[in-house]
Amino acid sequence: MTARILDGNAISALLREELAVRAAALKARGITPCLAVILVGEDPASAVYVRNKVAGCEKTGLRSIKDVYPAAVDPAVVLARIAELNADPTVHGILVQLPLPKQFDADVVLEAIAPEKDVDGFHAENVGALMQGNPRFIPCTPYGVIKMLERGKVVLKGAEAVIVGRSNIVGKPMAMLLLAKSCTVTVCHSQSKDLAFHTRRADILVAAVGRARMITGDMIKPGATVIDVGINRTPEGKLCGDVDFESAKEVAGLITPVPGGVGPMTITMLLTNTLESAERTLK
Ligand code: GUN
Repeated sequence: MTARILDGNAISALLREELAVRAAALKARGITPCLAVILVGEDPASAVYVRNKVAGCEKTGLRSIKDVYPAAVDPAVVLARIAELNADPTVHGILVQLPLPKQFDADVVLEAIAPEKDVDGFHAENVGALMQGNPRFIPCTPYGVIKMLERGKVVLKGAEAVIVGRSNIVGKPMAMLLLAKSCTVTVCHSQSKDLAFHTRRADILVAAVGRARMITGDMIKPGATVIDVGINRTPEGKLCGDVDFESAKEVAGLITPVPGGVGPMTITMLLTNTLESAERTLK
């Protein structure tokens, strides 16, 4: 059996068409939705992500502001810029690309962003709202995963969902969202004993660990839905996920590829959150 592919590019293209219509409607009412992105340092992967975020804005009719600082910048400079963006009524979303250099306390930076402009959903107030089942902004990657599961008509109610990875960006919010959809949720991590015991029980398996091809076909329940959040490079420099696609696709029922799976959805959901934020200014 070969799994059906959940195509993130195709789902994204459909969603972005709808977003472009919403952006145009806002513009007609005199509001240009705007996302401000702050990048500190020269991490090549972060630079690519930020470039793609800005390009996504342009293609969908959103304005973007990109502020780039050298790795050695004084955190006070970045915090002052965030305060400026918080106070600017023409800015609807603010995102600081992570990770930040060593001299930064990431929590302090994330807490400095006005919660009503925190389109990443990383501010403690927004994390709390998500936990209470009343989210203001859903973190973009897990939000994208939920949209893909919906488009794939995956049954969530009562399903066994296993998440591998417990990060604040993906694993933890993913667990909250699947719980809200009435899945039975297990979160595994680097200290979990017998990882395969857990993954083999999963109707829905979300891999978000950042280790190239660590989930192999023998760790997957036949017919399961496998969502690969990982973006890694093989020693030969090829892009690959946390799932070994070749062996996994022979066992899974539905699977996301890397590239072309969750990646494009993350940016689409960032655009969604920014538009939503701009629309709220009318309410
Ligand atoms: N670094 C990796 N993923 C993300 C993300 O979703 N948002 C931000 N701000 N930084 C990241």
